[in-house]
Amino acid sequence: MNLEFYNNRDQTIRHWARSPLPFIGQKKDFLNEFIDKVVWTIPAGSLVVDLFGGSGLLSHCVKYYRPELRVICNDLDNFRERLQKIPETNIVRRIFFKRFGRRTNNDAYEKLTGADADFIHETLNRFPGYDWITLSNMVSGCSERIRAKRKTFTNKVKVFDYRCDGYLVGVVATLVNLSTISKASASFGLSTHRMRSEKKDTERI
Ligand SMILES: C[S@@+](CC[C@H](N)C(=O)[O-])C[C@H]1O[C@@H](n2cnc3c(N)ncnc32)[C@H](O)[C@@H]1O
Repeated sequence: MNLEFYNNRDQTIRHWARSPLPFIGQKKDFLNEFIDKVVWTIPAGSLVVDLFGGSGLLSHCVKYYRPELRVICNDLDNFRERLQKIPETNIVRRIFFKRFGRRTNNDAYEKLTGADADFIHETLNRFPGYDWITLSNMVSGCSERIRAKRKTFTNKVKVFDYRCDGYLVGVVATLVNLSTISKASASFGLSTHRMRSEKKDTERI
């Protein structure tokens, strides 16, 4: 189990009401309920483990409101890496904004085709190291595999740079597949059951 801190602990935690980067399934719409019903009811001295960490939004929330608690965020998606790539992602964002940003129409997203689509492909090839999930959110909604062949993009280029300062300060990260923990717990005699709606190999302890 690889344990490390997300952010420099010298930073000050600041409030985030949503994930700093696009993340489908983040719990931003349930945050107030989570704070009221969960965060304030956690007993003092607890170790909080966010097993399905995702964007880390819930871990952030616990650490922000209850800084005295120890918080571990299990980051199977390697969201950490996406956060680390923000500087490279912002380079591409600025290039796109310079070319497309001001053409965005508020009523409908502009379609980018022909020379614009070529420009997108060239830029993405020229500046590797960006977070493709964030970028594909900005110029289309497609996956990395499909995007490689794409001829039409949608202009959703952001006006401002991405940032994540003070987001997961003091939160410890792990990257563990829960099925591994589940199997280990079975050998200690703990019960497990399969979750129907989760990924095939996901089990709940
Ligand atoms: C709906 S997201 C969690 C959202 C998160 N609470 C947030 O607010 O961003 C579920 C997460 O569980 C992770 N996950 C799915 N199966 C897993 C497994 N077997 N072990 C560990 N994590 C798993 C997914 O990769 C995903 O990041």
